[in-house]
Amino acid sequence: MLEKVTERIYYLMNDNNNERPAIGIVKGEDSCLVVDAGNSPEHGKTMLREVEKRNFPPVKYVIATHHHWDHIFGLEAFDGTKIASEKTCELAKIYKGINLDDKGLELAKEKNIFNAHAIECINKEFQDSGSFAPINFDVAFTGELKLHLGGITCIVNEIINPHREDGTIVYVPEEKTLFLGDAAYGRSKNGRNYYDREKTSALLQEVDTYDAEYYLCSHESICDKEEMQSYWNDLNMGLAMTKGCSSIEEAITNFEKHYNKNPSKNDLFFLESFMD
Ligand SMILES: [Fe+2]
Repeated sequence: MLEKVTERIYYLMNDNNNERPAIGIVKGEDSCLVVDAGNSPEHGKTMLREVEKRNFPPVKYVIATHHHWDHIFGLEAFDGTKIASEKTCELAKIYKGINLDDKGLELAKEKNIFNAHAIECINKEFQDSGSFAPINFDVAFTGELKLHLGGITCIVNEIINPHREDGTIVYVPEEKTLFLGDAAYGRSKNGRNYYDREKTSALLQEVDTYDAEYYLCSHESICDKEEMQSYWNDLNMGLAMTKGCSSIEEAITNFEKHYNKNPSKNDLFFLESFMD
């Protein structure tokens, strides 16, 4: 079921148990733009069924926020123009030639392309492994794109982020909404969450330039300005308290001196995530 954010912004709720990220949609007078294609053609079709049911204009554009499989394996379901940054197009090549049968998935696991949970989800999503088509984008861009849907504009921008080397965000000024994909998340390093300092700083500086009221991160429900600000504050705290620290103990001491209290479980998560 679609969740309504504003009159012209909706999204299909994420389902983390099945590695289904949120799929966003911007509704113009003439056409729609979809943010991320979902983790399988069936996931993409779930969005298309909603578009049909609600009599939305056709989906003219599909934007991939980054190359991770759960955001692009649904591309095949869409007829619209499939758009990704040049970096995303390049990185998505890791999936070419992969067979989604048991042997193919095992090989991909050995190469660290999929983890065990991803394989479990792929097996559920792709009942017929022969139905998977290679990932092809129609447009590869660098920098910024402006797309007009009729009475509403989508500004598509590459962004430096701590999640991956590629990252694209979609800003809708008329509805003050920013689709972040996975850009606000860290990455997994040695079995824990990790935020790269420089990339996180770059992300924080960039997002600060957008006048937004609503933020969609792919693996959460919609965040309002206050909720998002609380997360940015945690990232800023982690960055500041771990600066120049060679151990977590040093970072904790900095925190205790600065805030005059012990770090909470949440604070510790952010402190630990900035340690190399
Ligand atoms: Fe991701």
